[in-house]
Amino acid sequence: MAFSHASRGRLTDRDLDRFPGDSLFHRLARAVCHAGCLPRKELYESWEVARRVRRLFRGGRVVDLGAGHGLLAQAMLILDDSSPSAIAVDPTLPPSSVRVHDALADAWPRLSGRIQFLAAPIEAVEISADDVVVSSHACGALTDHILERAATAKARVAVLPCCHNLAIAGAGELRGWVDGALAIDIVRAARLKDHGYRIWTQAIPADITPKNRLLLGAPLTIAI
Ligand SMILES: C[S@@+](CC[C@H](N)C(=O)[O-])C[C@H]1O[C@@H](n2cnc3c(N)ncnc32)[C@H](O)[C@@H]1O
Repeated sequence: MAFSHASRGRLTDRDLDRFPGDSLFHRLARAVCHAGCLPRKELYESWEVARRVRRLFRGGRVVDLGAGHGLLAQAMLILDDSSPSAIAVDPTLPPSSVRVHDALADAWPRLSGRIQFLAAPIEAVEISADDVVVSSHACGALTDHILERAATAKARVAVLPCCHNLAIAGAGELRGWVDGALAIDIVRAARLKDHGYRIWTQAIPADITPKNRLLLGAPLTIAI
């Protein structure tokens, strides 16, 4: 049977044979297998988002909003050690996020003490202009709040939106040309530009998730 990257099945040590190599991704996957609790899809999504963000944004604290297990925040630090720390923010952090972190810190001891887990909504965290705000699949309007908060702080930002609420204002006029979810993301991109941002529109592989549009933005005042 094909090994679907979109599966919500949990990776465990039974999957270790699938990741035998020395690449950073295989090492990360093996650590995730040892944790034994992370849906396969989350590994592939976090990795694909993190490596695209890191091609553009280095340094600064990583702020992972709607973080779930916080794998995205940690993958950002594993890929590129230029950020001093990361914070993973979610009002309902899964208890298994501790297992994921412990498994990653076993493989990369330099992660220890550099990841803060905050069980709170996004409003609880101050964002500064030096931060890199990331968010994978923050549902519906949460993505808009994250973009708004990042833009207010003039921070670099990357979001992979999901659960588009077709009733939100501003996207309706575009629906004669493009589907509703795409219309919403186009409006989000345009809004970020209006905030004085340079934007990048990318996509992660659709075999991981159909909600695969990645929007990245940085204030025009920051040289990339
Ligand atoms: C679809 S999950 C995505 C989790 C993770 N980022 C991932 O890609 O697997 C959306 C997450 O947003 C969190 N969430 C909901 N409301 C939130 C809020 N106001 N502030 C921060 N996180 C929130 C939920 O608890 C949930 O873990």
